[in-house]
Amino acid sequence: MAKDKLKRWAENKTFDHVFEPNLLPIIKEGKTFMKGEWRSKFFKNNHPLVIELGCGKGEYTVQLAEANPNINYLGIDVKGHRFNHGARIAKAKGLKNVAFLRTRIEFIEAFFDTNEVDEIWLTFSDPQPKDDIGLKRITSVFFWKKYASFLKENGIIHIKHDNPMIYESAMEELDTTPFVIQSHSADVYGDYIKKVDSKWKSILSIRTYYESRWLEEGKKIHYVRFKARNLQGWSNSIV
Ligand SMILES: C[S@@+](CC[C@H](N)C(=O)[O-])C[C@H]1O[C@@H](n2cnc3c(N)ncnc32)[C@H](O)[C@@H]1O
Repeated sequence: MAKDKLKRWAENKTFDHVFEPNLLPIIKEGKTFMKGEWRSKFFKNNHPLVIELGCGKGEYTVQLAEANPNINYLGIDVKGHRFNHGARIAKAKGLKNVAFLRTRIEFIEAFFDTNEVDEIWLTFSDPQPKDDIGLKRITSVFFWKKYASFLKENGIIHIKHDNPMIYESAMEELDTTPFVIQSHSADVYGDYIKKVDSKWKSILSIRTYYESRWLEEGKKIHYVRFKARNLQGWSNSIV
């Protein structure tokens, strides 16, 4: 396994669609990386930008990119050997609208400027059950404030998860946020997927590595989609 990780890390360095910036200047000196420049410097177009946080192997990033060539996708995870799977597939398929970024989500504001991101996917994020105030849980309002600093007005946040706590707490905390629920289900593969239109059917049918594991264990998959309203100023306000 260690050997495999080394191989994957080495391969990432050869990919021009993988970004693995040194975090020290970002943490210590407040430097930024590609902030406001993803479209102009990497994608070289003005298409929408969708990011997947905690992307793991990057199934959503790659499969959505393949289905939507006019949308840019960026998978983000702290574990480069995981998203190496997606980066390899994107390269093999010749996808030009996919990139991966290795960082901790805690520093996400260093990578995106105001109004730079159209949509955020949070797929099977670590539930962090001991994190009472949400300083580690990337689905918490603490993190949503960071996301609000770069998400567009009317931008979308999607959460797909096996753990009802994540789904319910995000919906409960809604009152303190400028987001409204667009759609949700506590059992995606039950009645819900039969009722949504074909576009959403194919989007929600994408299965991540962790999702497949939880489905094998008989767990239900939850999904909720939020839309941003009146975001301005919220990211700087006190929760
Ligand atoms: C349970 S896995 C889910 C992976 C993938 N989305 C899936 O569904 O298969 C959670 C992922 O989030 C990443 N992660 C957790 N906390 C993170 C953080 N603070 N910053 C960046 N990545 C993080 C982990 O490295 C891991 O790949």
